[in-house]
Amino acid sequence: MLRNVLRATSQVRNASSIPPGLSNIVPQYTGIFINNEFVPAKSGKTFETVNPANGKVITQVAEGDKADVDAAVKAATNAFRIGSEWRTMNASQRGVLLNRLADLMERDRVILASLESLDNGKPYAIAYAADVPLSIKTLRYYAGWADKNHGKTIPIEGDYFTYTRHEPVGVCGQIIPWNFPLLMQAWKLGPALAMGNTVVMKVAEQTPLSALHVAALTKEAGFPDGVVNVIAGFGPTAGQAISEHMGIDKVAFTGSTDVGRIVMKAAAESNVKKVTLELGGKSPNIIFADANVDEAVHQANHGLFFNQGQCCCAGSRTFVEGKIYDEFVARSKSLAEKIVVGDPFNLKTTQGPQVDDKQVETILKYINAGKKEGAQLVTGGEKHGSEGYFVKPTIFANVNDQMTIAQEEIFGPVMSIIRFDGMEDLVEKANNTIYGLAAGVMTKDLDKALHVANTIRAGSVWVNCYDVFDAAAPFGGFKQSGIGRELGEYGLEAYTEVKTVTIKVQQKNS
Ligand code: NAI
Ligand code: MG
Repeated sequence: MLRNVLRATSQVRNASSIPPGLSNIVPQYTGIFINNEFVPAKSGKTFETVNPANGKVITQVAEGDKADVDAAVKAATNAFRIGSEWRTMNASQRGVLLNRLADLMERDRVILASLESLDNGKPYAIAYAADVPLSIKTLRYYAGWADKNHGKTIPIEGDYFTYTRHEPVGVCGQIIPWNFPLLMQAWKLGPALAMGNTVVMKVAEQTPLSALHVAALTKEAGFPDGVVNVIAGFGPTAGQAISEHMGIDKVAFTGSTDVGRIVMKAAAESNVKKVTLELGGKSPNIIFADANVDEAVHQANHGLFFNQGQCCCAGSRTFVEGKIYDEFVARSKSLAEKIVVGDPFNLKTTQGPQVDDKQVETILKYINAGKKEGAQLVTGGEKHGSEGYFVKPTIFANVNDQMTIAQEEIFGPVMSIIRFDGMEDLVEKANNTIYGLAAGVMTKDLDKALHVANTIRAGSVWVNCYDVFDAAAPFGGFKQSGIGRELGEYGLEAYTEVKTVTIKVQQKNS
């Protein structure tokens, strides 16, 4: 994956290697994808998907709801039946299909990056240099696992032969968000398909287009009918229908903690389907005075402002040691003011619009809360331009850990810089949040780095780096940031049932 998002951004700076995006692209696929065909919604309804750079409608997309989820579950159940092509396919062949899908995404890289940028607003150059290749890498990584997730033989007591089989869970519901549409689709399809499950995926209503294009590619890659089903639609209708469906064996959700709770409840109240959740975050990024200040400023800037600040692991609580606090704030201000906000299809742009007007409203509400509660607005703090959903890169200094902006997920380009002095209470403060997704620490002192890495309650800790993702490294949350892990070998667990088979062995020598 982003062997580092930073590498991708340096590619962006060197944009001559990136072909221009198709800002006038007309999306080819806008239906509901069931049984390898695009069909209209059963209700006949469609909804508008909007370009957040100018607020204009891109196209109408079929609006799936409960009836369409039912049809998709039927298709996925049929594809999973005993003796089906998918169930009898060699595990290695599932890997071949995933690799073919990755090949096709490489072929369509410009189209996918263009759709991603148009629908979500992220800079095309970043979609091209990061989102698309990282999605491809995730699929290739899991293609390799298809024939390698196997059971054990176990020496139980008595005359028995006992072994475990690692089997697919069955029909998997997957509900994904809008901040990384392609990547979240790949994180979910990769392990599910590698392990032989079938999928009913609901994509976010803000950003359906790239995922529907990938759905078409799954057919071209040769996945049998009904193995992959993709529905665009809204949470309370299509999403809820997945969470409470009696025919779905497992639900994987990425999004807000509030909705995660709803999904888990619906899963419990229906058929106790298995649940994995990747939810919100309020990640501390701790910068000690002995760190290289220039590197720390860049790393913190990137860890917060990347993807318009719409990252679940954003380093949104930047803790800076007193000795370098003023210098850090001043340098962070000048770096934030260098961010190029504007047209996502301009290769020089490094910050596009927020995904929709609702997110802008939420962000402005938090900016107001910051001002009201006494934080010092250092830069930004308002909308950018008159068209589209842009917010200026914003920094607050003198933030106290109790303030709303230090506690609640903003999901926008708002940095909160908190001062600390010495180690005392530092980790307690950093842990003082309901979330536990990620953390960063910058220091040259190995003991300090290890102390933080060992005591922070978070699923990922980055030392002297931030946002380093790799398909092989697990990601997920402590506390209210989620349940389960995605990526890596750990990511297979959510898509695997372990079956224990015990055979009585007749003694032949008695
Ligand atoms: P959300 O949690 O409502 O949306 C995520 C996905 O869940 C979408 O596909 C949505 O349609 C679906 N969904 C919504 N209600 C549902 C329901 N009742 N049952 C099943 N599925 C449902 O997030 P939203 O409203 O788009 O953003 C609000 C906040 O959530 C953001 O400001 C951010 O703080 C957080 N968020 C976190 C993400 C992450 O990566 N962890 C991604 C997106 C949002
Ligand atoms: Mg859109």
